[in-house]
Parts: sequence; C-alpha cells; structure tokens
Amino acid sequence: MDFVADRHRTEPPRAAAPTPSAVTQSRWRGLHSVAGASGEAAAPLAATVSGTLPPWLRGSLLLDGPAVWELSQASYRHWFDGLALLHRLHFAGDGSVRYHSRFLDTEDARLSRERGRPELGGYGTKAAGGLLSRLRHLANPRRTDNGCVVMSPCDGQWLALTESDRVTRFDPRTLATQGEWRWADKLKLPLMAAHPCIDAQGRWWNVGIQFGRTCEYVLIRADRRALREVKARIAVPRPGYLHAFALSARHAVIWECAWRAHPLRFLFAGESYGEHFDWMPQLGSRLHAVDLADGRVRSWEAPALFAFHAPQACEQGDDIVLDLCVTDGPVFEQLDLARLRAGGDAASAAATRACHMRYVLSPGAGRAREEVLPGRFELPQTHAAVAARGPVRYVWGAATHEGGGFFDRTVKLDHQTGRLLEAGDDGTVSLEPLFVPAPNARAEDDGVLLVHRLADGDSGSRIGVLDAATLAERAVVQLPAVVPFGFHGAWLPE
Ligand SMILES: [Fe+2]
Repeated sequence: MDFVADRHRTEPPRAAAPTPSAVTQSRWRGLHSVAGASGEAAAPLAATVSGTLPPWLRGSLLLDGPAVWELSQASYRHWFDGLALLHRLHFAGDGSVRYHSRFLDTEDARLSRERGRPELGGYGTKAAGGLLSRLRHLANPRRTDNGCVVMSPCDGQWLALTESDRVTRFDPRTLATQGEWRWADKLKLPLMAAHPCIDAQGRWWNVGIQFGRTCEYVLIRADRRALREVKARIAVPRPGYLHAFALSARHAVIWECAWRAHPLRFLFAGESYGEHFDWMPQLGSRLHAVDLADGRVRSWEAPALFAFHAPQACEQGDDIVLDLCVTDGPVFEQLDLARLRAGGDAASAAATRACHMRYVLSPGAGRAREEVLPGRFELPQTHAAVAARGPVRYVWGAATHEGGGFFDRTVKLDHQTGRLLEAGDDGTVSLEPLFVPAPNARAEDDGVLLVHRLADGDSGSRIGVLDAATLAERAVVQLPAVVPFGFHGAWLPE
C-alpha cells in the first residue's frame, strides 16, 4: 500500500474512470439501496455486540447524515443534499447497545416533504421557485437549515449544522428537534462553516461569510443567548468555499480555498450552492490567522488549495502551523447521485485520498511554507483536549487503499515517529473514526475509535470499536438497520 503523499496538484479534477471494478460497483449499489431504504427507527432497537466493550464506554454515539433524496415529485441531485437523519447508539456500560434514529424536523424538511420537491436546495440541487421568489427574498436569501453535516455542543445545548447560519437545536438523548436556534443579533452570514470549534475554555467559535460590496470572513463567538460576538473581519474580494476552520490555542486560522464564490450569484442566480463557486487556481489561496486575544489579522499566500478539514492548528514558537487534508480541487461533482448510482465511484478516491499537508505561517513571511506530511486520509480525528492546547502527536482518519473507490481503511499517524498504522479491508466501507478518550487516560491515544462500517453483503451497519493505540478491533456492534453513510459523529458521555 502506498501511503506516500504526492505533492498535490492545482489543476482541476479529472473525470472519473467510466468502468469501476466489480467490487466498487457493488459498494455503490450498497449506497444506493441504503438511500432507497432509509427510514426512521423511532423505537430503540437492541444491537448485537461481539467482542468486549470497554466498561468505561458509557454514553451515546451520535451520527448525522443525509438520508432521504427522493421526494414525491422530484429528487435531490447530490449525496450531500439528502434530508438529515440523526442516529443515537446508547452504550449502557454493561455490554449492551441500543439504537434509534429520528429525522431532523427543519423548515426545509417540512416544506420539501409537503411540496414533494427540494424546496431550499443544496450543494447540487437548485432551490424551488423562480426569479420572482429570489427577488422577494433579496434582502434575506433563502437558505437551507438541513443540518445533515455536524452536531456540535454549544454552552449546554446541541446543534445540528450545515453550511449556512440556520442552525437547529436537538435533544441528544431523544433526538427530538427543539426548533431553530434563532440568532439574537442582526448579523447576516448566508454562509457559515459547518464545523464550529470549541476552545480550551469550552467556548463556541465559528466563521461566516458576509457578501456585499466588500465580502468578509467574519469570526464570531456565540453562547447560549444566541448572540454572535464579532471577533474579527477579513475583507476579501472573492471568498473561497468554507466548510471548516481551525483553532489553535491562540489563533483562529481560515484557509481561503481556490474554489471561489461569485457573490452576486448567491443573491440573484437560481443555481445550486455548488454552482455559485468556480475553481480559480490562478488566484492561489490565502491563509488568515486571527489573534484570539486582540482580533489582529495576519495573512499569508499559499498555492491554490481545496480542503474540507484541518487535522490541527498549533503554535510552534512564533510560527503558526496549519495541517490540512488537501484535494486536487473541489470534489463535489464526483458525489453527484446520478453518477454514483451509475457506478462512478473511481474519482471519489480523489476526495478520500486527500494529501496531508502542513502550512507554516512565519512572522514577516509573505508566503506560507508548505510541507508534505505522511498519510493520505480524510475525516481527521484528534484528541480534542490535546488539540485545543496543541500540538497533537496522533491523528486518525478514514482512508482508501490505492486504486480503491471509497473509504475502506482506518489510519493512525504518529507525528513523532512518522509511523502510519492502518486497519480495514477492501470490501468494507469504514467512515470517520470517532476518537473517544478513556477516562483518566495515561496517553494521548488511550481510548477507542468508533468506526461506522458497512460491507457489501451486510444487512445492517456495524460500529467497529478499535483500540485507538493499536487499531486492533476490540468489539463490533452489529446494528439491526443500515445507517446511511454520513459525515461526522459526536460522543456524548453518560
Ligand atoms: Fe466536515
């Protein structure tokens, strides 16, 4: 297996190979049947556990993801766009696990189900309504509240998010929707990162984009009162796609992807979210660091890049370090549903085999210093408490074997030794390895990884419980239902 990262390229992504292997076709048929069969498991169902669960593993694994793409009159067009379904696996601590799921009850879900069509659109799906509707909402463009990407605790409550500032509260025990978290301020941020960050003091941060004559990234901190306190504004002519940002102990770091927004399209055009961006490698990328103490902004030039996630950001002396999972360009087209259902999975390897890159931001330097780190993976995980102080020694991620079509490996990188471990096999999809630290852990990697898995022949999903230090399998939780592939999980301790 070749895990040596090539230097990432900056040209647009290439088209998928038209004839994927039988194995990968089968895997995507699995995804398609998942998409067709998904439904709510409102009453808790008992899962079967083999192996031995750590007795300290008491709490809830929460999973989120798109689950319904077909409506009575029309369909969503992109995997990312399906209506959100929340899942909970409750680990009682006595070896038993129970599972239930509930749809997120958002305005988008209600309107779309009622009218039988995607009402507020998504990455690859246009919103319903024509020019008149857009003009009517010009001052406040309609945007989805389909929080199918991230679940985040904020000041004692749980939030489901997508890439807009419409955020939905839910109860992590019952999964009941508790309504939209309506902002108590007047800020208008049509785009907001799906991934908030929690600092070492437990405070909730996020970044939004404000469109106007001048566009701005806006760094905010919010609390239970739903008041967004603006900590910094960064003016940019053409903002890049924003999925996440990174928080070190002393800085917020924002990477300006070379997939650039057309601000006017967001206001006037009736296209899907993704069609409001264009890949513009000629503009390069910029990395912005905001000093959390005083809001001072410093910026560095970087080669054109596209990245969803940052394994970490940290300080090293006077330098700021940002690690990113970098792909060749935007990967959205590769996850178009029609393409996936036709068996076109080969190009998704471009997303799942992201390069692990480091950008060193030195005072006085105009450009970031770029380094290639070991490993090609996505959906990175670290020990959150260690990462908040930084730097981390260990990073875990979901990877794809060379030539594979989708996540089928769990990997662990030891930054200190450069050693890469991996677990998994070609026939089993293995998604984000959620790290749960052991109580009173004696080492940064003392804990387990909870990995959502599905093999071609499985009747239900499995949660692999891996030793986070060795990647050895300690237990498998076999669910009585298929959990549609999602993006990110969260752990709620008992
Ligand atoms: Fe993400």
